Amino acid sequence: MNRSLGVCYYPEHWPEEIWDRDAQLMAETGLTWVRIGEFSWSRLEPQLGQFDWGWLDRAIAALGKAGLKVILGTPTATPPRWMLDKHPDMLAHGSNGEIRKFGSRRHYCFSHVAYREEARRITRLMAERYGANPIIAAWQTDNEYDCHDTAISYSTHAKHAFQDWCAQRYQSPQALNAAWGNVFWSMEYDSFDQLDLPNQTVTEPNPSHVLAFRRFSSDQVVLFNRVQCDEIRKYSDRPIIHNFMGRITAFDHYDLGADLDISSWDSYPMGFLLDRVGADETAQAHYLRQGDPDFQAFHHDLYRATSAGRWWVMEQQPGPVNWAPWNPAPLPGMPRLWAWEAFAHGAETVCYFRWRQAPFAQEQMHAGLLRPDRSPAPALAEAAQVAAELAEVPYVGTATAPVALVFDYDSAYAWESQPQGADFDYFQLVFDCYRALRRAGLSVDVVPKSVDPSAYKITFAPGLLTVPESLRGGLVVAGPRAGSKTEELTIPEGLGPDIARLSTKVTFVESLPPFAPMALAGGGAFIKWREAIETTDAVILHLEGGAPAAVRQGQMIYIAGWPDDAGWRRILEMLAEQAGLDLLNLPPDLRLRETDSHRFWFNYGPRAVTYQEMTLPAAGVHWEAK
Ligand code: GAL
Repeated sequence: MNRSLGVCYYPEHWPEEIWDRDAQLMAETGLTWVRIGEFSWSRLEPQLGQFDWGWLDRAIAALGKAGLKVILGTPTATPPRWMLDKHPDMLAHGSNGEIRKFGSRRHYCFSHVAYREEARRITRLMAERYGANPIIAAWQTDNEYDCHDTAISYSTHAKHAFQDWCAQRYQSPQALNAAWGNVFWSMEYDSFDQLDLPNQTVTEPNPSHVLAFRRFSSDQVVLFNRVQCDEIRKYSDRPIIHNFMGRITAFDHYDLGADLDISSWDSYPMGFLLDRVGADETAQAHYLRQGDPDFQAFHHDLYRATSAGRWWVMEQQPGPVNWAPWNPAPLPGMPRLWAWEAFAHGAETVCYFRWRQAPFAQEQMHAGLLRPDRSPAPALAEAAQVAAELAEVPYVGTATAPVALVFDYDSAYAWESQPQGADFDYFQLVFDCYRALRRAGLSVDVVPKSVDPSAYKITFAPGLLTVPESLRGGLVVAGPRAGSKTEELTIPEGLGPDIARLSTKVTFVESLPPFAPMALAGGGAFIKWREAIETTDAVILHLEGGAPAAVRQGQMIYIAGWPDDAGWRRILEMLAEQAGLDLLNLPPDLRLRETDSHRFWFNYGPRAVTYQEMTLPAAGVHWEAK
């Protein structure tokens, strides 16, 4: 497959006289794709029913004339001000009841049916007009669902839609009461109309109620997106893409991705490092100008799975961003490395965000490929370098992986609804496992829990709310918390883990503060979470003092705690030989990613790294054909 580069562009921010020159320079840089339109509603429909398509026609033509392909975004993340006059109750409500007002973006509630219809209307008009335009080569729906925590709304519209959703799911209030255990604290309902949203309660709401609301909220996002996909497909056969984000568990990306042709995501490695990776200060200082060495890769591997293999980076950080607590500049070479890393994980296209830094409004401090004065910013030359390299290496192969790692949104909702420890974070648990696999030089497929484990040498499935029967037929590593609850977040009859092939019971659990890890006999420790178990399965790991820490029955391994880095490494070493895996012990900053044709090496460190015969400079990328 041919890989390509692109950029995000806002023609409506710039005088029309410079569009041709911009397009020309994009093409000269070696870019193929330009994403436009996703925030432009106030210029497309300045007043209700009054349209101005002329400027967009001309912008598309200018880009097409330069040989560029356009990804056209539906503008539904930024409804114009008049929309609010028409639908004053369309705004989302925060969990404290506050109204999320007009004046930035994403000011809509996913459950507002009339706004969903407005979104359908503008999508249909765009698809009718541009669906067959040869320059429009792909679509983007909306922009970053859940950005600014907008997937979950506590509005009256959400409440009514949630009542309907519960009526569908549980059929009767009695069944809902039984499923959630509402006899507790006399929380029983007589009718679905009495059901409220699980916010602003005196103390914590029933976690089963919270979990149901999280599932409902996810379905609302999926529905909102589906409406747009349906409209686009009536008029266009071009692929439909949405741009996901990093570390977002507010909706099920597999569900949403099933309606897309291509998943994409927006990768801001340095913003993420300081904002959401959870790295300590030493790691933040070390990776300040490069980003975390596994965080981008994890999402590349995740979003490869959400639309059956096809994926892009829709927005790639080019320089300092504006939204992290601090916004340093990348180490020279990183905008190139990030793009190559994405290609090594199977990305078809990487688009830098954005073409030219805006001189106004919220993102005026956010770098682009060009400075606001229209001259090149540092990343422009790096983008040109990647384009030249891609021309030389047209085939980089299909990403392949010997191990699978399950990521399950439903489990994320469950443990967010009932964490039991202040730092029990499902994403972090899975990510810790991912990091250990990568440090061992392994390429990883992140997969849904419906995975067939026989396709992999080992499948890791930490922290699954429920363990499906289909998770058999290969070596599987489950736990902690796996199968410890029912679908409705109650304790199963006979206790967890509810895994048929194990003769192990969790008798009690403990969550552990950061200063109280529990050492494993022989090295490593459990952090954050530990389970006391009764078992007749083979014990393969003990805590110091002798309590069982991991067990095995045939191909199923259960870990009764949250391993630290050394703990994960030990588990891997115990299984590697049988699984036929060669483990490396990579230097901390070096990462490896394999495709069917190439082996790629990346140095995420601020200094050169030597490994075996190879020395990679800081921000260095090296690839070799296999
Ligand atoms: C993304 C968003 C873009 C822009 C960018 C800035 O989250 O999709 O519109 O805001 O961040 O880094």
